[in-house]
Amino acid sequence: MTKTTMSVIKADVGSIAGHTVVHPALEEVAVKVLDEARKDGKILDFHVTHCGDDLELIMTHTKGVDSEEVHGTAWKAFEDATTTAKNLGLYGAGQDILKEAFSGNIRGMGPGIAEIEFTERKGECIEVFMMDKTEPGAFNLPVFKIFADPFNTAGLVVDPKGHAGYIFEVWDIFEHKRVKMSCPEEMYSLLALIGAKSRYVIKRVFPKEGHMPVDEPLAAVSTEKLAFIAGEYVGKDDPAAIIRSQSGLPATGEVLEAFSFPHLVSGWMRGSHNGPLMPVGIEDAICTRFDGPPRVAGLGFNIKDAKLVGPVDLFCDPAFDLARQKALEIADYMRRHGPFEPHRLPLSDMEYTTLPKVLKKLEDRFEDIG
Ligand code: F6R
Ligand code: MG
Ligand code: MG
Repeated sequence: MTKTTMSVIKADVGSIAGHTVVHPALEEVAVKVLDEARKDGKILDFHVTHCGDDLELIMTHTKGVDSEEVHGTAWKAFEDATTTAKNLGLYGAGQDILKEAFSGNIRGMGPGIAEIEFTERKGECIEVFMMDKTEPGAFNLPVFKIFADPFNTAGLVVDPKGHAGYIFEVWDIFEHKRVKMSCPEEMYSLLALIGAKSRYVIKRVFPKEGHMPVDEPLAAVSTEKLAFIAGEYVGKDDPAAIIRSQSGLPATGEVLEAFSFPHLVSGWMRGSHNGPLMPVGIEDAICTRFDGPPRVAGLGFNIKDAKLVGPVDLFCDPAFDLARQKALEIADYMRRHGPFEPHRLPLSDMEYTTLPKVLKKLEDRFEDIG
């Protein structure tokens, strides 16, 4: 049976009046490029959207992960959108396009990528989550809760198919190493790593032996670090993730439940501050207050023969109003700290921002205390 692939590829190639929101013209350009690609048989279906200043391309096809044709299509969409952004004089036009020429794979060129190849189930449910003004590790807490916390996911307790638990693939994004950990057996070790979310990030989640193929991920998160590619701060690495749900996996509502707690993530203004992650509908994915606060938007689809059905705007539900209210209260509380930690990130994380340039200027002023 032919497997289906979902590829979510995103980039910030310019936005209106600062780092607020993607201009509709950029989405129109991306739709045009992806429509052509669909006609040429490079992809089978697509949905273009945005989260804050990030242009998000959701594509389905049967070419597997790392397909040159699919990555090339995304690259062309970002290049054309960059041209439009420059013509319109948008802010940060072409920001995440860090390399000149495409040579087969979009990895390491600036955009973020989350991809999953899988065997379609009957009634395949899949959710795409997109975050702005934060980093890949922001997914650690919700993804852990979805696949390992019985207080979040009732299916881990009451569904025999969920009872076995899941395998987490964690990347050390500083050392470029990875490790797989099995939950619930290795839960404490897993948490020892992923609690340090700026370094250890959940890349994928796999099923254990049972009702699903063990080599097909159930979740995948984009983990690209712009600063590592560009060698300097160019913007936060706003991540995207794909999560499959239902029929023995966590239910869509269990997946969403993990986002009802607006946990603190790093990013926000100048990629330098901790703030709450606010779940919002696409219409409210506009980062304004102090360039934030950080947001997560979610779209739910069904997939049939690699074609998308939907989406449903998952956080467009008053049931998330309290989470949003809480996020606003936390945002206010954190802002009162101004330039002080822990609102401002610790120095180790500030290394990847513009602060070191300021500290360098002060270097000569220091004298030994003795
Ligand atoms: C956060 C972000 C913004 C900018 C800030 C300053 O990811 O992109 O908060 O860091 O608006 O932007 P520049 O330096 O472009 O004026
Ligand atoms: Mg930006
Ligand atoms: Mg962004």
